[in-house]
Amino acid sequence: MSPSPMRPHPSSPPSSLSSSLAAPLHPPLCAPHSRSAVITALRAAGCVFAEDEAELLLSSARTADELAAMVERRVTGLPLEHVVGWAEFYGRRIAVDPGVFVPRRRTEFLVGQAVGLGRRAADRTGRPPVVVDLCCGSGAVGAVLADALDRIELYAADIEPAAVRCARRNVTPAGGDVYEGDLFDALPTGLRGRIDVLVANVPYVPTEEVGLLPPEAREHEPLVALDGGADGLDVLRRVTATAPQWLAPGGRLLVETSERQARHAVAAFTRNGLAPRVTSSEDLYATVIIGTRPAEGRA
Ligand SMILES: C[S@@+](CC[C@H](N)C(=O)[O-])C[C@H]1O[C@@H](n2cnc3c(N)ncnc32)[C@H](O)[C@@H]1O
Repeated sequence: MSPSPMRPHPSSPPSSLSSSLAAPLHPPLCAPHSRSAVITALRAAGCVFAEDEAELLLSSARTADELAAMVERRVTGLPLEHVVGWAEFYGRRIAVDPGVFVPRRRTEFLVGQAVGLGRRAADRTGRPPVVVDLCCGSGAVGAVLADALDRIELYAADIEPAAVRCARRNVTPAGGDVYEGDLFDALPTGLRGRIDVLVANVPYVPTEEVGLLPPEAREHEPLVALDGGADGLDVLRRVTATAPQWLAPGGRLLVETSERQARHAVAAFTRNGLAPRVTSSEDLYATVIIGTRPAEGRA
C-alpha cells in the first residue's frame, strides 16, 4: 500500500511529518529526479519520512516534469496531501484540494462511532439513516460513512466555498448532497427534526494556539477550519445550541474535541438538553462527545 500522507489534527503535538517542515527549506531540486535525488531533497527540507514520501510522489507523478513540480511544492512547505491531491482516510482515498482542511487520522474514531450509531438507527427505524456531515471540509467523514453504511440519506455542508467544491467531489458520487453556508443555515429546512446522526468536526483550536500549529496547518489550511475562538469551543457551542431542533427524537450529535476541552464541551451539550457521553481512543488520541436528543415523551 502507498504510504499515507496523513497527519494528525492541528491541536495535537506535531508528528514527525507535521513538524518536518520546521527545518530550513532546501533549494529547488534539479532534474533528473531519481528516487535517491527525491529522498535527498525531501530530507534536506526536513521531511522525517522522506523515503515514504518519495515513494508516494514517485508513484503519483505521471511525468518527470510533474514529479519535479510536486517535489518543489513539497519542499516549499505544502502539505503532502495537497501536493498529491488526496488523503487516506478510513481506508479510502479522499480528494483534498489546496486550501481545504486535510482530514486527520484521529477523526477515524469519530467515524467509527457514527457508523455504529447509523446502523442502530437503521435497525430501529427500518429505513436508511438520515446523516449530516456539518462542517464537512473535504467531505471525508460523509463519504466514508456512505461507504460503511449500506443505505444512507446523506447531506454535508460547509461555510468555505473551496471546501464545498471539494466535498462535492467526494460526497456526490456517494449519493450525498453538499450545501454551502453557516452551520444549519446551509441545510434544507425539510431536515428539521429528521436527522438520525449529526456529525460535526468543528474547528476547535483556541485562537491563541493557532500560531503554535505546524506551518503546514497554519499556512495552508484556512483559519476558519482551525480557529475555534478564545477557548476553542465557540463553534461547538453554536452547534449544540441548535442541534436539538434538527435531530430526530433519539438522534445523536457527535463532535470531536480534545481531552482538555471535554468538560466544558459536555456542559454545552447538557445545557441544550442533549444527554452527553464522552468516549475516547488512546491509540488515535481522539475524544468524541455523543449527545442524544431524548426520544419523544422522555425527559
Ligand atoms: C476541523 S475542519 C473539519 C473538516 C472535516 N469535517 C474533516 O473532519 O476533515 C472544520 C471545518 O468547519 C468549517 N466551518 C468553520 N466554521 C463553519 C461554520 N460556521 N459553518 C459551516 N462550516 C464551518 C471549516 O470551513 C472547515 O472545513
